[in-house]
Amino acid sequence: RSEKKDIYYEVNREAARFFYKALRFGDNPGLRYVAKRGLTKETLHEFGIGYADGEWNSLYNHLKSKGYDEKIMLKLGLISTSKGKYYDKFRNRVIFPIQNTAGKVIGFGGRAIGDDMPKYLNSQETPVFSKKNNLYGLNITKNYVNKEDCAILVEGYMDVISLYQGGVLNVSASLGTALTENQAKLLKRYTKNIVLSYDADNAGVTASIRGSEILYKEGCKVRILHISDGKDPDDFIKAKGKLAYYKLVDEAVDYGDYRIEHIKKKHDISTTRGRVDFLREIAVFLNTLSPVEADIYVKKVAQNYGISESALRLEMGQDAKAEE
Ligand code: UTP
Ligand code: MN
Ligand code: MN
Ligand code: MN
Ligand code: MN
Repeated sequence: RSEKKDIYYEVNREAARFFYKALRFGDNPGLRYVAKRGLTKETLHEFGIGYADGEWNSLYNHLKSKGYDEKIMLKLGLISTSKGKYYDKFRNRVIFPIQNTAGKVIGFGGRAIGDDMPKYLNSQETPVFSKKNNLYGLNITKNYVNKEDCAILVEGYMDVISLYQGGVLNVSASLGTALTENQAKLLKRYTKNIVLSYDADNAGVTASIRGSEILYKEGCKVRILHISDGKDPDDFIKAKGKLAYYKLVDEAVDYGDYRIEHIKKKHDISTTRGRVDFLREIAVFLNTLSPVEADIYVKKVAQNYGISESALRLEMGQDAKAEE
């Protein structure tokens, strides 16, 4: 542990405390917003959710009064400077502190309360925050992930928080980015069984393909959960409840089947040309699987799409005669 980093953690912690108190103090737009989104007092406390008001210097003045240096605030991306003046980065937003698995506050996500862009403003990369190496919520949920030997991976802050509040406790978020190798490695410390539960929109589907591939390559057992009608886990559990969500978890599709289905959607397999292209792409995909899994899926594809196993193996570059 580095002494130099301690001051960054300390100032972040103080900022988180400041935002949290601002949310809990009296009536304010932040509190009205989280109430509208159905968050309970317990949830606000558990996740340390806060509020950055609309003023230009609230946090700056607070940290200054505590004796902290501008240089540190700047490094942490809590303030910006322009023409010799300092101003708060997070204004008029609901604040989600991001903690590492050791419970240190490493950064923040701020959701616009109004129509401000971007919808979510996240901390920049800092000496203590690197988006690609961390997962949101895992500091709170890691014990449940461990106990259940399964993690549900979602896109966003609100997805983690709503699932957790709804009783689905083994959850974490990749923070909207395409999942990274390091995030997969981090998750694997707690479980190898991952259910990917990204948004039902196109961005979510693309991220599911890429993310599941990364998890598979890291040696995880991946399943992909699908939510219909354009919703995300937050919307879904609020509308349908925990049991309906668990049903989707049960129905989540194995990585191989999911990828094959996705490839199928790209081709018109009612035509000869389409079938050929489909099977060629399948062959390329099957080659990325472990030998045992590849073998299982070769048999499955051969049966389902009326092609001989040996032809599929040849297409994959395997020596069909040696196999049989
Ligand atoms: P979404 O666009 O799906 O938002 O982004 P959301 O989480 O459902 O937001 P709500 O429900 O409208 O509040 C998913 C995640 O992608 C990241 C955030 O981590 C967000 O939770 N994101 C999204 C950003 O970092 N910046 C953005 O402007 C948007
Ligand atoms: Mn998204
Ligand atoms: Mn989305
Ligand atoms: Mn949402
Ligand atoms: Mn979403």
